[in-house]
Amino acid sequence: MITKRPRRNRYNEVIRSMVQETALELNDFIFPLFIIEGQNQKIEVASMPGINRYSIDTLLDEVASCVDLGIKAFAPFPSIPENLKDKYAKESENPEGLFPRAIREIKKNFPEVVLMTDVAMDPYSSDGHDGIVINGEIVNDETLEVLGRMALTQAQAGADIVGPSDMMDGRVGHIRRVLDENGFHKVGIMSYTAKYASAFYGPFRDALDSAPKMGDKKTYQMNPANSREALIEAALDTEEGADYLMVKPALAYLDIIKLLRDNSHLPIAAYNVSGEYAMVKAAGLKGWIDGEKAMLESLLSIKRAGADIILSYFAKDFAKYMQQ
Ligand code: PBG
Repeated sequence: MITKRPRRNRYNEVIRSMVQETALELNDFIFPLFIIEGQNQKIEVASMPGINRYSIDTLLDEVASCVDLGIKAFAPFPSIPENLKDKYAKESENPEGLFPRAIREIKKNFPEVVLMTDVAMDPYSSDGHDGIVINGEIVNDETLEVLGRMALTQAQAGADIVGPSDMMDGRVGHIRRVLDENGFHKVGIMSYTAKYASAFYGPFRDALDSAPKMGDKKTYQMNPANSREALIEAALDTEEGADYLMVKPALAYLDIIKLLRDNSHLPIAAYNVSGEYAMVKAAGLKGWIDGEKAMLESLLSIKRAGADIILSYFAKDFAKYMQQ
């Protein structure tokens, strides 16, 4: 005689929803946006169907349509023209550069939205690396100076949260100091704490033309084989003053999300990156999987693993799904 029957709690829809442990909300999401120079531009990223690169004017329309759908937080990324890139990412400190202009315009038109801005040299670097390259080496401490000035430029333009995504040692502490010395104690830091050297960033690098010109990012981004290192990074970021810890990518690293969730009192963010989006989209468009269901299941798994915040290119699709 079977007396223990777990299926009883799955018997019908009402019971299933009563016992459901995790649910996605639109408030969980940050939507990344790609920005390019020019006017009236809206160019789809070939490897990310449904995701476009916008000039500032069309970007404002895109933000408006997202705000109408209930999206309140965005992570903009600039695509910098090749002729403005150099070894020291000088353009990242230009207050009249594409990125600060875009930040100011978004905040002027939508003061209620939260902007999380990426701090890393790669979109501005002629080497395509997240640090200064000297004799083939990505140097750490000299890079911090650049990151501090970049973060300050973004804060001055109106960023609410800065997101150092470069994986240099000591960046969170350095950026916190620079922001505080300049009166930006309210600007938060969402640290890309456990950022892995991943093949899943490919479409993003296409979108921004930011792939490394030489070598790879393995001397600074983490080895996908490691999890204990994530705890070391988390402890340092926390000590240095991070307000949020992020894990990136998300789907191949759900165990790391859970690990940080279980070992920190800070909010945990997860970045459902470009390649993860591309895989689900591509298979969905081919009819090989149900794209919408696969999207919902992937996003839910990230939340279940312990993420409080999800950065995802699916945020708008999810918002539309919620409206149905
Ligand atoms: C820049 C940065 C990257 C991503 C976010 N910030 C690329 C990289 O480190 O090469 C990837 C995001 C994505 O793939 O969606 N340092």
